[in-house]
Amino acid sequence: MTDKREALSELAAQKLVEQIRKKPNSNLGLPTGRTPVTMYRHIVRLSREFGLDWSEVHCFALDDYLETLEEYSFQKYLEKNLYQHIGISAANTHNPRFNDDYDQLIEKHGGLDLTVLGIGANGHIAFNEPGTPEASYTQCIWLDESSRNSLKGGFPEDSDVPTKAVTMGISTILSSKSIIMLAFGEEKKEILKRAFDNGVDPTIPASFLVLHKNVSILTDCD
Ligand code: PGA
Repeated sequence: MTDKREALSELAAQKLVEQIRKKPNSNLGLPTGRTPVTMYRHIVRLSREFGLDWSEVHCFALDDYLETLEEYSFQKYLEKNLYQHIGISAANTHNPRFNDDYDQLIEKHGGLDLTVLGIGANGHIAFNEPGTPEASYTQCIWLDESSRNSLKGGFPEDSDVPTKAVTMGISTILSSKSIIMLAFGEEKKEILKRAFDNGVDPTIPASFLVLHKNVSILTDCD
């Protein structure tokens, strides 16, 4: 972990903690993957330092695998990296795998206040793979071959890499009042440039973020 990544992860954590202090009943859209691990470490630390009250916060996982080994699920990831450290009630943690109408559930709670995203090397946000339209809501999808390739190494066997997932849609994400994107490493440099330099291009799902008025991109790519 470079100093810059550490600092950007801490900044993302500070923004999220600030959101909760400003609005104790915040609804958060939460990512998984390699990139946000350090952000979660800082959230846990800051949460302890401030004695942050999570009792009214609702956490919504962006996505999760389908038909995979449970220990590799995003639900487990979020429990391990965040939920178990902050004493949040299970009733306040949500996952699209366990909800038939995730968009309606989010709506019922008053909408997403802050959503944190990563970006896939193919430009996906959550598991909205290239070609996903703007008018998409939470849905089951087939993972793109490039997404599956980047997941190899994280599973015991290549054949364990999931083929299906359930993910918030582009519209679900764009409905969030604010968005933070974390993008670290050389392998994200090219796709970031393509996503944000040329307007909306449905073959690069992250490019839909140019339609949103409150997106912060925290990146160590020059
Ligand atoms: P990564 O995944 O953080 O593991 O690179 C990012 C993503 O696919 O959104």
